[in-house]
Amino acid sequence: MLMRMTVLGTGYLGATHAACMAELGHDVLGVDVDPSKLSKLQAGDVPFYEPGLAEVLKRNIDAGHLRFTSSYEEAAEFAEVHFLAVGTPQKRGEYAADLQYVDSVIESIGRLITRPTVIFGKSTVPVGTAERLGRRARELAPADVEVEVAWNPEFLREGHAVEDTLRPDRLVIGIDKTRPSRAEELARQIYEDTIASGTPFVLTNLATAELVKASANAFLATKISFINAIAEVCEAAGGDVTELADAIGHDDRIGRKFLNAGIGFGGGCLPKDIRAFMARAGELGADQALTFLREVDNINMRRRTQVVELARQACGGGFLGTRVAVLGAAFKPESDDVRDSPALNVAGQIQLQGAAVSVYDPKAIENSRKLFPTLDYRTSLREACEGADVVLVLTEWSEFRQLNPSELAGLVRSRRIIDGRNCLDATQWVEAGWRYRGLGRKMQADWSV
Ligand code: UGA
Repeated sequence: MLMRMTVLGTGYLGATHAACMAELGHDVLGVDVDPSKLSKLQAGDVPFYEPGLAEVLKRNIDAGHLRFTSSYEEAAEFAEVHFLAVGTPQKRGEYAADLQYVDSVIESIGRLITRPTVIFGKSTVPVGTAERLGRRARELAPADVEVEVAWNPEFLREGHAVEDTLRPDRLVIGIDKTRPSRAEELARQIYEDTIASGTPFVLTNLATAELVKASANAFLATKISFINAIAEVCEAAGGDVTELADAIGHDDRIGRKFLNAGIGFGGGCLPKDIRAFMARAGELGADQALTFLREVDNINMRRRTQVVELARQACGGGFLGTRVAVLGAAFKPESDDVRDSPALNVAGQIQLQGAAVSVYDPKAIENSRKLFPTLDYRTSLREACEGADVVLVLTEWSEFRQLNPSELAGLVRSRRIIDGRNCLDATQWVEAGWRYRGLGRKMQADWSV
């Protein structure tokens, strides 16, 4: 059934959700407090790089299914269904999530409600938040008007956001089971086509829905750190982590996905989410249960230092007076996001230790420049590699995976390459006369010869 709805917050999650809900045929109003973001979106322009999103956005704006506003009055008037999609970043100097944006959305919309309303939260929040927001929304709205806060966590990946929203692995709806609820019925209408195409629909209570999201990201982070820890052992023992991951991945219970060893996870979600999860468990008196996530975080951060060390060895033991080429700045390919990017972090560390670092990334240069203005950004891969003592591949863009080692050989000062994502064909590079180092791979060059 076609419905009217708003999406409150039009960042990565909100803009994608708004466009995709319109694509499902609904009438959608995107709401944000940032006028520059709104004017871009209204013009059909996506303020970040996400394959396929601009087309969906444009098509639905042109068809009249999607508009944007900064007015919460308009939002309250427009619909009885609202999706809450603002950010929950890590608090400055603390592990916990910063809920100020989530709270302020409820304050803004809550006092404008005049008819029965359901607010579906999509943001990643500490368990217990939804119940608290529900209480606050009911305090703000007139006493005789039913207001409900349900939770519908989002599992989209950057780079696959449209596909993940239109064809999710599952839909999770958390409701307050102690009160009368319309959320299940509404969610079944909103996602009618998605459900009809076979997507599992999981109905649960609020706490479980919030925990599903936190646990999913904690599991993914753990899987990556697990294989990175095994990579360290492989390196010490002369094993090969890629072959090992292929072998254990054949077991259905383990699976091959998210077992790529390298410089580890980054981005705006996994790192902050595991920390917020630990902080919340601590508040609940269950801190022991999640202490292993501290080790997951440690293993992950250690990857960055280890790559810096490898690069130092490749430069003869010190960075002073050397040139280092860094290929990749985004936290993963098909994204221009550099939040907590391992690639940019490594580039920065090497630069701060005295090397001249040239960085190239197909999409993330502009954002990198804002975050780390002192690095030397180049507009092409070739420019970045000119005269390099060592080349580091730190994000597995296909442009880098397809690199021709012989072509690059003429540009660099020394044919040394560190494959921080284990994404290159080591044999090909070695055959072209390069000294190759992967992370936890058996084909390892000895820099000293
Ligand atoms: C992650 C989750 O995958 C989504 O399901 C979730 O919705 C999202 O966070 C979120 O909470 O919003 P995303 O941050 O877009 O999505 O990126 P991922 O694809 O999960 O990759 C995260 C990091 O792990 C990247 O830096 C990537 O390079 C790294 N990674 C991934 C590895 O190092 N090895 C792997 O095998 C896989």
